This record gives sequence, structure tokens and C-alpha cells, in this order.
Amino acid sequence: MKVWVNGQILPEATAPAVAVNDHGLTVGDGVFEAIKVVDGQPFALTRHLDRLARSAAGLGLPAVDDAAVRKGVAAALEGQSLPLGRIRITYTGGPAPLGSGRGDAPPTMVVAAGAMNPYPETTSIVTVPWPRNERGALAGLKTTSYAENVVALAYAEERGGSEAVFANLAGNLCEGTGSNVFYVVDGELRTPTLACGCLAGVTRALLLDWFGGVEVDEPIGVAEQADEVFLVSTTRDVQGVSRWNDREIPALGPVTTEAAAAWRRREPDLLGV
Ligand SMILES: Cc1ncc(COP(=O)(O)O)c(C=O)c1O
Repeated sequence: MKVWVNGQILPEATAPAVAVNDHGLTVGDGVFEAIKVVDGQPFALTRHLDRLARSAAGLGLPAVDDAAVRKGVAAALEGQSLPLGRIRITYTGGPAPLGSGRGDAPPTMVVAAGAMNPYPETTSIVTVPWPRNERGALAGLKTTSYAENVVALAYAEERGGSEAVFANLAGNLCEGTGSNVFYVVDGELRTPTLACGCLAGVTRALLLDWFGGVEVDEPIGVAEQADEVFLVSTTRDVQGVSRWNDREIPALGPVTTEAAAAWRRREPDLLGV
């Protein structure tokens, strides 16, 4: 892994580099992006930077310096051989008092890039008992306040799943801890609308564009009984679901297979873009 912090490449990737009173560390006051790297090139970087800017604005952080982040991305990738990798951009409120109030110090920007293992073609998922709050201040923002996801994922892993799925306060399907969910009912491919409180996934938007699908909010029970289910995300691409809670689901089903093929066909369009 190679790491760039506030304009400098770290001599050692995991060396201490951020102050202990950084507001991202003390209270989770930060936003982030995870970006796939294919053959050394970032995938859909512009879309990810647009979302980073939206998340930062949503938290009230200073505007992101796009040119500086792009330099950080280039520096973190330089000299690495990454057939498949991941870039993580983290932007926080910077050094601050120890409570929830922000300080006057400049924000912290970290860009890290390293190798990534491909995900399996299919996986199991588990519904968790805690709701996503579609009316919360952080709904739809990619913030570093992800401890709720940590708890949910641990719950799913204890039950044999690789992803935890949330309903929202209305009881409708929302999203996974790091993925959006698509499912097939009566031959129709569906995914929740952004009003459900899910993150506006880059993969979700591109798949809707490249392959299609209907955006609809409905009870999570409908999706749990679907004919096909798949997850989409930066790290999973299109990943079939072969078990949801205790229910086995045929995977890869025909719609999932076509969606995955469409993804593979179109992905090169956004490498380095
Ligand atoms: C909560 C959440 N939902 C959905 C996604 C999928 O988004 P993307 O396709 O942009 O990776 C992520 C990404 O990690 C996420 O953190």
C-alpha cells in the first residue's frame, strides 16, 4: 500500500501520520470514497470525487480541493503494479477539540492505494435487526461514522453471511453495509430509490444506466422472497446472492448473469475517467 497525506507520500504506509485529536478519529467527522483500480487505472474517479464533494458538503466540511486529491491519487498509484486494487480517500475535519465541536485547523486528506482480492461470484447475506434512518442527518452520505455497519457486518458474519442488509425505518429494503441491492420479481429487476436512505452507489447508478432496472421502495420481505438477488458495489461489482437468511436462492440466475455481463462489457469505458 502507498499512502499520501496532505500532499506528502508517507515513507512508510502505516506510519503514524494523523494527529490523535483529528476529528475523524475522535468523533467520526469525516467522509470517504473507495475506488476500484483496474490495470493501474482508477475506475469512475470523477463520479467518486463528485460524491466525495457531496458528502463533504452534507457534513459541512470545507470544499474538497479536487486538483489536490487527483494529485494524491496519481502519487499513491505511481510505481505500483495493481492489476486489481483499491484507492481509499478519507477527508476529515482535521485537528479539533475533543468534543463534537470543530476546530480551526485545516482538514485532513488521506489517499491510500493498494492491491485488492476479487470477490467470489456469489455470496450469502443476512438481514439485521437494526434500521437505517432515512431521515437522519447523515442519510445518503458516505461518512467515516460507519461503526453501525461494523456491528451489522459482524452480526451477518456470525450467521454465515458476507454482507448485512438493512431495512429502513419504514420497513422497506434499504442497502447493505457497503453495497446496494437489486432483486428480481416476476421478471422485473428492482432496486430501492435513493429516498430509502441508501448511499447513491456509483455501481448502482451505472448498472441502472447500462442495464436497466426499476427503482421502487417496498417492504424488505418482498426482496427476501425474490427469484434472484444480487449486490453491487465498487469491490463486488455484480455479485449473485445464493442465500438470504435461511433461504437458498438460485445463483447466478439469468438476469444476474446478464447484468454481470453488461457490467464487464461496459466497465472499460470508465477506466481512467
Ligand atoms: C453504505 C453503502 N452503500 C452502498 C455502497 C456501494 O457504493 P459504490 O457502488 O459506490 O461502491 C457503499 C460503498 O461502499 C456503501 O458504503
